[in-house]
Amino acid sequence: MAQASSFYITTPIFYVNDVPHIGHAYTEVAADVVARWHRQAGEDTWMLTGTDEHGQKILRTATANDVTPKEWADKLVAEAWKPLLETVDIANDDFIRTTDERHERNVQKFLQKLYDDGHIYTGEYEGYYCVGCEEYKQESELVPGAGEYEGQLVCAIHSKPVELLHEKNYFFRTSAFAERLLALYEERPDFVQPESARNEVLGWVRSGLSDLSISRSTFDWGVKVPWDESHVVYVWFDALLNYITAAGYGQDDAEFARRWPAQHLVGKDILRFHAVIWPAMLMAAGLEVPRGVFGHGWLLVGGEKMSKSKLTGIAPSDITDTFGSDAFRYYFLRAISFGHDGSFSWEDLSARYQAELANGFGNLASRVIAMVNRYFDGVVPQAGERSAADLEIAAIERRATDASWAAVNRTAIHEAIGAVWELVEALNGYITAEEPWALAKDPANRERLETVLATAYHGLGTLAVLLSPVLPKATAKLWSALGGAGTVQEQRIDLAYDWAVGERVGTLEALFPRIEATE
Ligand code: ME8
Ligand code: MG
Repeated sequence: MAQASSFYITTPIFYVNDVPHIGHAYTEVAADVVARWHRQAGEDTWMLTGTDEHGQKILRTATANDVTPKEWADKLVAEAWKPLLETVDIANDDFIRTTDERHERNVQKFLQKLYDDGHIYTGEYEGYYCVGCEEYKQESELVPGAGEYEGQLVCAIHSKPVELLHEKNYFFRTSAFAERLLALYEERPDFVQPESARNEVLGWVRSGLSDLSISRSTFDWGVKVPWDESHVVYVWFDALLNYITAAGYGQDDAEFARRWPAQHLVGKDILRFHAVIWPAMLMAAGLEVPRGVFGHGWLLVGGEKMSKSKLTGIAPSDITDTFGSDAFRYYFLRAISFGHDGSFSWEDLSARYQAELANGFGNLASRVIAMVNRYFDGVVPQAGERSAADLEIAAIERRATDASWAAVNRTAIHEAIGAVWELVEALNGYITAEEPWALAKDPANRERLETVLATAYHGLGTLAVLLSPVLPKATAKLWSALGGAGTVQEQRIDLAYDWAVGERVGTLEALFPRIEATE
């Protein structure tokens, strides 16, 4: 039997210096929706997320809180980062921490190989370091500070002063891979997505690559450099390797062959690490480069990137406590064109919740189920002769299925949801036009009533399947009300229009209840 094709998707591993905000939840949800979609299309799917726990940023935070960095990380992982996955309903297959033994050991293995093969040398470097980014900055990347930092140069992302460092470190010969990287971007135009991100990456590499300092000797919170224990591995070099150490690199060749390469989903703030440095590291080690890197946009607050360090973060639970996890997932993926920046607003969220989820989808579901109960005692009717309008619904079910799956394969998540929403709108229009409640008044129209409700029922089932990656909770309820076989997640999403119809419907409470305005 042919092996199911494999799909491995990752989120960044997040710094545990602080608790998550909706920007982190956004990446999690996007990766989860894409993973669920592939899983439901029958692919051998694996979704990885996790935490980045070494480096100066974590060390300083822990020290300021009078605990060891490991104690700090353990606390934040248990109390904040793992609970985030529950809050927004993530079905990840694995969670890696850079303090895991499986990670640390294989980071050393990877580094030793690069050292043995001549990709590492000793050098000296002086430059401006941003601890927020954990990255050396070029002067061109700094901007004049404001407020308490007036008169100083600050990091353009964190708006905090950079530190001038002078160190003797180990360096990775990134520059040796410039030609191969350019060839990669040329041969695989969708290696970096979206187009704007690809152009940025091309610009960086064309203007020349400098080698990367990959160790630090002024503190010891990190993985020890295997041939020189007075150094720890640079936190980014360590962190990027999570994508392979979690997939069996260095310890389970069969697992690694089965999973790797991955599709990476990251915010555009860390595009350079993922689209330039990481593939160069893999090339040096003789491993396959990633399947692709998608750099999504930022959630903005007052026109700036929402951030932990600027205290502009909104906790995901502030939204889910009121609107639920399904609405959170739907809102951010629907309202923001994936790859672009977007601003969050409570007004927009409330308006879309009411118009699209409650009135558009939820009401449609309640009405159809209620009418099957009322007019047919809950027995799912069979369609008779079909009109053009009935056939059109069937055609839209098919189109929504194909178009949404094609969009997911381009990581155009908002387009996928848009394609499904065509079916929501078509079904609402169909019910309004066919007026089943009017047909029900005259027994002579009984057969037409059966056909109309059979058509609407079928469309609703297709919707349940297509929306299950985005709205897992609501569609599970709907599925049980539809009386479909098994679970909604067992239905093939790439063949959603061919779902296993039931014989009797159950009852359905409002999928998206009215939210009372609060102060
Ligand atoms: O960079 N809008 O971790 P990090 C959208 N540990 N997404 C946002 C966001 C915003 N305002 N703010 C954060 C790191 N994110 C490294 C990664 S990977 C090998 C190591 C999301 O905690 C987005 O995915 O700073 C961004 O890339 C990531 O959080 C940065 O998280
Ligand atoms: Mg950051």
